[in-house]
Amino acid sequence: MFVRETEWWKYSIIYQIYPLTFADGNGDGIGDLQGIIQRLDYLNDGKDNSDSSLGIDAIWLSPINQSPMLDNGYDVSDYYDICNTFGTLDDFQRLLEQAHRRNIKVILDLVINHTSSEHPWFLESRSSRYNPKSDWYLWHDPAPDGGVPNNWLSYFGGTGWTYDDKRQQYYYHAFNSHQPDLNWHNPEVRAAIYDVIRYWLDLGVDGFRLDASSVYSQDKYFRNNPVKFEGREDKYKDQYHIYDQNLPENHEIIREIRSIIDEYDNRVLSGETFIDNRLYDSLIFYGVNNDELHLPFTFEFPLSPWYPGYLQREIEKKELLTPEGSWQVYFLNNHDLPRHLSRWSECSICFDTFAIAKASATILLTVRGTPILYYGEELGMVNHENIPLEQLRDQVAMSCLDEECLPSRDGTRTPMQWDDSPQAGFSFGKDVTPWLPVHDNYQYVNVETELSEQDSILNFYRELIQLRKNSKALQKGTWKPLIYYPYEHLAYLRETEQETVLVAINFSYEKNFDLDRAIPKQYWQVLLSTNLSVGDIIPLPQLLQPFEISILQFTPDHAVP
Ligand code: BGC
Repeated sequence: MFVRETEWWKYSIIYQIYPLTFADGNGDGIGDLQGIIQRLDYLNDGKDNSDSSLGIDAIWLSPINQSPMLDNGYDVSDYYDICNTFGTLDDFQRLLEQAHRRNIKVILDLVINHTSSEHPWFLESRSSRYNPKSDWYLWHDPAPDGGVPNNWLSYFGGTGWTYDDKRQQYYYHAFNSHQPDLNWHNPEVRAAIYDVIRYWLDLGVDGFRLDASSVYSQDKYFRNNPVKFEGREDKYKDQYHIYDQNLPENHEIIREIRSIIDEYDNRVLSGETFIDNRLYDSLIFYGVNNDELHLPFTFEFPLSPWYPGYLQREIEKKELLTPEGSWQVYFLNNHDLPRHLSRWSECSICFDTFAIAKASATILLTVRGTPILYYGEELGMVNHENIPLEQLRDQVAMSCLDEECLPSRDGTRTPMQWDDSPQAGFSFGKDVTPWLPVHDNYQYVNVETELSEQDSILNFYRELIQLRKNSKALQKGTWKPLIYYPYEHLAYLRETEQETVLVAINFSYEKNFDLDRAIPKQYWQVLLSTNLSVGDIIPLPQLLQPFEISILQFTPDHAVP
C-alpha cells in the first residue's frame, strides 16, 4: 500500500542503508548504488502481499556524496556529485526512479556541519588569511602561549582545534581534524549549503537526515565551556557544552532549512539530535511552531537496558513530552552503535537472541511513531566483535589515540547477509574480499535462508510490517500502557475510535499476566502470536507463555449472534 499522504513519513517505515556494505553491484568488494538497485525488490517490490519483500516505505542512505572516505562519507568533498566508490549521478537518478517505481521514498544523509578537509572550499580557506573563503570555516589565532584558542573538544576525542602552518591559525572541528566545521555565522556559507539542499530536492529526493544537527553553530566569542564539578576539562562528557552545541542560532539554521523543505511538496526533514542526548533537550528540535525537524532522532531505545520497565518508561516519556502536532520516531540501531542484539544479550536474565529480536521488533513496530530499521536487523544480525586489526575501516576512530576515543564502529557495519554463499551474497557474482569481513553466522542468518523458514526473524518482521500497514490503530492510534513495572512483561493498547489493538510481550519465563481490569475480557482476535493461532477469537489471556508475543484485536462484533 503506497502512503500518499502529505505526512507520509508519519505512517512509513524507514530503512537505513549503509551503502558501503549493503550490496556490491560491480563486484569490487565495496557496496554501491547498482547493488542497492538490484536489491530494491527485497525492500519493497511494490506488490501487496509480496512473498519475498520486507515492505518498507523509505530508505535513508548514509552519505553517498563525493568523499575521501576518511569517515566513510561523513566527510564530503563535493556536495554535487556521487562518490566514485558508489557510482555516478546517473546511477543515483536510476536508483531514485527505480525506488519511486516501487513506492520507496529516498532520504539522503546531509553532512553539512563540516566538510572534508579536501573540499575545495576548505583548500581555499586555508590557503591564506586573505581569500574570499577565508571566513568559511572557524579559524582562530593561537592563545597567547601558542596553544589552542579554548577548551572545546572533538567528539571523537582530544582537542577540537588543529593548527594550520600556512595560516598560522587553528581551525575548529567538532569531529576529526579532517572534518573542519563550516562557519555558519557566515551568510555565504548558509547560501552555499542551501543551494546544495535545493539541488537534491529539485532532483527529486524525498528528504534528508541532517547529520550532527546540534553542532552547526558555535559561540562567536569562542568562550570556554564550563567544566562539571570534579570533572576533567579534557573529557568531552565532563564539559557543559553551552558554547559549542545546541546554541539558539543552531535552531535558526534548522528553521531556515525547514523553510526550504516546505517550498517542496511532501518532503521530510529528519535529523540527529545528539550529543547530550536527553529527550527533553531534543524536543526543542521540533521547533516551537513545529517548524524545525519533522523527525528528530533521539536515542531512548539504544540507551535503554533490555528491561520492560525501562523501555516502557522511555515510551511514556516520549508520549508525554512530544509536543502537540509533532510526531515520534524510534530506532534500535544505527551505524554508530553496537547492534541491539549484541547490546541486549548482555542483560541480566539472558535468553536467546532470537526471542529478544522478536520482542524488540514488536516494540519498534507497534509503538506510536515512525520506526527506523537498520539494514540487517530484520535478520537478527549481531555485531562482529572479532574483526582483525588490519581489516578495521573506521579510520576516524583508529586515528584517535586519546583514552576518551570513540571505539571502532566497524562491528555494526559488516556486509548485509543475503544468502549462504561465500561473502554472504554481498558481492554480485565475483569472488572478492568484501570491504569489511562478513559475520561468521551468515550461513544461517541471511535473507534467503530466513525467507524459507516460517519462524525466522525476517518473516516475523515481514508479518509485523504487514500488520502495521493494515491497522490504523497501529499507525495512528493512541498508546496506553496496561502494566506497570517491575513486571517482566510489557502490554499496551493502540486505539483509534474504530479499532483497539493489544500488544503483549513476555520478557521472561514467568507466566503471570496481570492486566488492567478495565479492558474487555472477551472477543479478541489473534493478529499475530508466537503461541496462539492467528485468526482465532479468544478470551483475554490470563497467562503469557515464556517469551510469548501476542498482538490481539478487539472484535466486539463477535459478541452479536
Ligand atoms: C554520524 C557519524 C559521523 C559523525 C561525523 C555522526 O553523527 O552519524 O557516523 O562520524 O556524525 O559526521
